[in-house]
Order: sequence, then C-alpha cells, then structure tokens
Amino acid sequence: MRPINSVIQEVRSETPQIRTFRLEGDLDPAPGQYVMVWVRGVDEVPMSFSGPDTITVHAVGEATQALFQLGAGSSIGLRGPLGNGFVLRGDRVLLIGGGVGTAPLAFLGEQARAAGAAVDSLIGFRSSGDVIFQSRFEGLGRAVLTTDDGSAGIAGRVSAGLSEFDLKGYSQVYLCGPELMMWDIISRTREHASKIQASVNRYFKCAIGVCGSCCMDPDGIRACVEGPVIMADRLLESEFGRYRRGAAGSRGSCRG
Ligand SMILES: Cc1cc2nc3c(=O)[nH]c(=O)nc-3n(C[C@H](O)[C@H](O)[C@H](O)COP(=O)(O)OP(=O)(O)OC[C@H]3O[C@@H](n4cnc5c(N)ncnc54)[C@H](O)[C@@H]3O)c2cc1C
Ligand code: FES
Repeated sequence: MRPINSVIQEVRSETPQIRTFRLEGDLDPAPGQYVMVWVRGVDEVPMSFSGPDTITVHAVGEATQALFQLGAGSSIGLRGPLGNGFVLRGDRVLLIGGGVGTAPLAFLGEQARAAGAAVDSLIGFRSSGDVIFQSRFEGLGRAVLTTDDGSAGIAGRVSAGLSEFDLKGYSQVYLCGPELMMWDIISRTREHASKIQASVNRYFKCAIGVCGSCCMDPDGIRACVEGPVIMADRLLESEFGRYRRGAAGSRGSCRG
C-alpha cells in the first residue's frame, strides 16, 4: 500500500509536548485503528486516530519532532486506516488510559455514547500540565483523573484510581497507554481479562503483516494487522509486560 498525500488542515496544541493534527481526506477510521504517518525525509511512524480525522502526537524523537515543525498547509504521507480497532460490546463500558494513550479512547468513548452506551473513564498523567482531553472524558460520563505527582486528581499511577470502579458492572473495558501501565492494570484485574481490550504498541515497519517486525512471542501474533487491539487474556500468555523487540529485532524493555 502506497501512502496518499494529505495536507494538514489544523494543528492544536494540547500541552507543550502534545499536539493534535487534523488531516485532510475521507479517512473513516474505527477507534483503535491507526495510520502510518510519513514525515518526508525523516521516517514513517504509526499513530492512532484521536477522532474521525485527527491524530494526537506526543513529541518524543526524530519523526514526531519533525512533525511538530509542520503546520496547517504542510503535507505528509498517510497509509491507513490500518489494523483492528476496538469493538464496542455491551452498553456500559469503562475506558482506562494513560498519557497520549487516552487519545484513541476519547474517540472510542464518543462513538460509544453516540451508540447509546454509558461510558466511564479512568485517565492518568504524569502531572496536571500533561492532562489532555479531560473535558472530552467528563462529557461522556464519570471521569476519574490520576497524576503521578498528585498535582491533580488522585495521587499515584493510573491503578491508584481502580478502586473507584467495580469492574463487574462493566460489559467491556478498553485500555491504552504505556505498556507497563497497561500491564499493571491487567495483572491487577486478571479475572476480568476476557472483557479487556488493550491497544498494543510494537515496532511497526511494513504495517501490512509481511515483515515480522511487530510479532509477539510466543505465537507470533502480528500487532500491526491482528492488533493493535488485542484481548487481555491473550496478552497474559504473551511477552506483553515482560519485553518487546526494537527496530533491529532484539529484545528490549517494555518501558515507554
Ligand atoms: C499502533 C500504534 C499507535 C500509536 N499511536 C500513537 C499516538 O496516537 N500518539 C503518539 O504520540 N504516539 C503513538 N504511537 C507511538 C509512536 O509511533 C512513536 O512515539 C513514534 O514512532 C516515535 O517516533 P520518533 O521518531 O519520534 O521517536 P524515536 O526516537 O525514533 O522513537 C522513540 C520510541 O518510539 C517508538 N517507535 C519509534 N518508531 C516506531 C515505529 N515505527 N513503530 C512503533 N514504535 C516506534 C519506540 O518505542 C522508540 O523507542 C503509536 C504506536 C503504535 C505502534
Ligand atoms: S510491522 Fe511488518 S508484520 Fe507487522
């Protein structure tokens, strides 16, 4: 699949490190699907949709910082929407997100509300200055906020807010954020793993299931095409939360 050209329509600053880019084109993604964003001359990187025509980007390295140099009217290449996104199941759902991982969950929550589901949220950030989309989540239903440093909401990691919710009351739970945060949640809620859908990050190259870069041990599930959304009971039997492979295929830490 070759990239299509897309002119950036608008750039919104969410925090000093996070920006939302509104893209041109009739993309029609499902929440949880992603797009490969080609920043010409730099790299092509995966980004989840934060809305029907938006991506929300945390500047962490070369490609994302180069994207931050682009404004409305600049053009990028896009391949997608790609992968299997979140599947809406039942009529009472809980969203659990950390950092920029909250972005696809806000999109999912809005579609779930429009479909008539009750939507509650648990969202966590490092500090009050890193909070994004709080009003989007509060507009959906009950929203509990955590910050690592206690500057807003409950002090502590996202899991510090888990006791606010009885998972038995939810038809489905949706999870997105840093891997160790997701692992922390899944390992504390193992008995609910069959109803937790988690969006997984692996190193994506081809994004069409042929290069093997994103395969997860032990069964070789390809996160780019069978994921990025994978059921938590399957993740419990995998490398998830223990290690992941980097750009060259060697095992590395799950941090980040
Ligand atoms: C399915 C999926 C959805 C994602 N959605 C978002 C999103 O909505 N917003 C957001 O800010 N980030 C998202 N990411 C992460 C984003 O792709 C990386 O932050 C980005 O690739 C970093 O590139 P860089 O050149 O700026 O940084 P680098 O310094 O090159 O890399 C920093 C880290 O980013 C990761 N990374 C780099 N290249 C890739 C790649 N090709 N595939 C996967 N990970 C990579 C690696 O963990 C690396 O250690 C998503 C990743 C995946 C797999
Ligand atoms: S990125 Fe190539 S198979 Fe998934």
